Amino acid sequence: MKIAIAASEAAPYIKTGGLGDVMQALPLALSRLPKNEVSLFLPYYGAVKYSGAYETEFLGCFDVPLAWRREYVGVMRLKSRRKKLQVYFIDNEHYFCRDGSIYGHGDDGERFAYFSKAVLAAIKFVGLTPDVIHCNDWQTALVPLLLKTEYAGALPNARSVLTIHNIEYQGKCNLQFNYDVLGLPPQCDEILRFDDCTNFLKAGIVTADRVNTVSRTYAEELQYAYYAHGLAGVLRSRGSAFTGITNGIDTDLFDPTKSVGMWKHYTAATVGEGKRENKLALQRELGLPEDGEVAVLAIVSRLVGHKGLDLLCYIAERLMQRRIQLVAVGTGEEKYEWFLSGLAYRFPHQCATHLSFDAQFANLVYAGADLFLMPSKSEPCGLSQLIAMRFGTVPVVNSTGGLRDTVPPYDPASETGCGFTFQSYNADDFLAAVDRSLQIFYDEPEKWLRLQRADMAIDSSWTKPAAEYMKLYESAIKG
Ligand code: GLC
Repeated sequence: MKIAIAASEAAPYIKTGGLGDVMQALPLALSRLPKNEVSLFLPYYGAVKYSGAYETEFLGCFDVPLAWRREYVGVMRLKSRRKKLQVYFIDNEHYFCRDGSIYGHGDDGERFAYFSKAVLAAIKFVGLTPDVIHCNDWQTALVPLLLKTEYAGALPNARSVLTIHNIEYQGKCNLQFNYDVLGLPPQCDEILRFDDCTNFLKAGIVTADRVNTVSRTYAEELQYAYYAHGLAGVLRSRGSAFTGITNGIDTDLFDPTKSVGMWKHYTAATVGEGKRENKLALQRELGLPEDGEVAVLAIVSRLVGHKGLDLLCYIAERLMQRRIQLVAVGTGEEKYEWFLSGLAYRFPHQCATHLSFDAQFANLVYAGADLFLMPSKSEPCGLSQLIAMRFGTVPVVNSTGGLRDTVPPYDPASETGCGFTFQSYNADDFLAAVDRSLQIFYDEPEKWLRLQRADMAIDSSWTKPAAEYMKLYESAIKG
């Protein structure tokens, strides 16, 4: 099958979150399946273009219409030995070579509407004839509508699939957006409109041939107002054309026998000793007392509200009364960064922070910690819990979205399940789950070891999800 994938980020080129990880691993997994040819389209951000790290070739240039004007599109292709996976970059200095983050600019709507048009025009320009165009999140959610309108003649046979990685971000612009920027016929206004905005994600949901999200439970949750940020009814209207496929992780990149950044590699057989060595290294690195016996609790996350930071702040004082060390890694909202820094200042023997994101250091944390905290308010899939389990680090999670699907609750009697869970977004329930985990950790070390090994044996590779995406593409093609 010929598959074109459009996304606003993909590791290793550029990444701000889980979308970037998925866009690294999924195209690769798909390209390894027989008969597949995969093309990935990304913006040519300044951080990629001027990094000097990637060699590209210039394939050509043209321009695309944006309402009353035309904008330049340069098409670059990464030089690569992988024949079945080609990476294309859309070059436009004005839109993509800017200081600061890749998102959060006043004209993000225009930037990504342009990108969506440019991707379709580039597909035509380089002569690809994809069976499916797979778009991701609001940034590329206009692709299905464009494919049915402006680009219908150019790409008549391509079907579209839209994956929602997080419904919180929808791409909202004013109601003049079509007239000012997109330039589609006025009949499209109703498709683009949701409440009193132009809403990219809504337009994608109603026009894509298939829509999915990144876990089964999140797909169910999105039928309800509490989770759907306004779009429950729109999603419900798609019926069985909206499904869930749980993400995997790149099991070569995250592998305790070989990941970079670890102090010592280990296997399931040597996890006890291996983890201890990594724990001591982590404590040295962070200036915590070196203690191979203490339970180390870690959070590696964007420090934002929906990741459940409020719950952590609420129980922090009480956590400090336990025999634990807490390690927090990530960046995000200032209030959480301040809170965690303050906690580390007041409890220097128990709490340390690393308020920046560095993938290698994160691997040392996954390897050195015993418990991995993920009290997310909602979680479309979550990848960190999968990584943690692969390193034998037991997750403590709010049982929501992908966390519910990937971390079945541990039952000490039957020794089934993978982690410690709580069922509602409540700080005391979170603390109770931490306490249950500490009880097993300290009082029943043999059970703990068996739990770690069971977690390490889980298959979280992309093999199964990639096969599910193939089925989804096939159903989009059949119509
Ligand atoms: C978003 C979601 C996260 C998911 C990731 C990849 O970052 O918040 O839960 O794992 O996308 O799909």
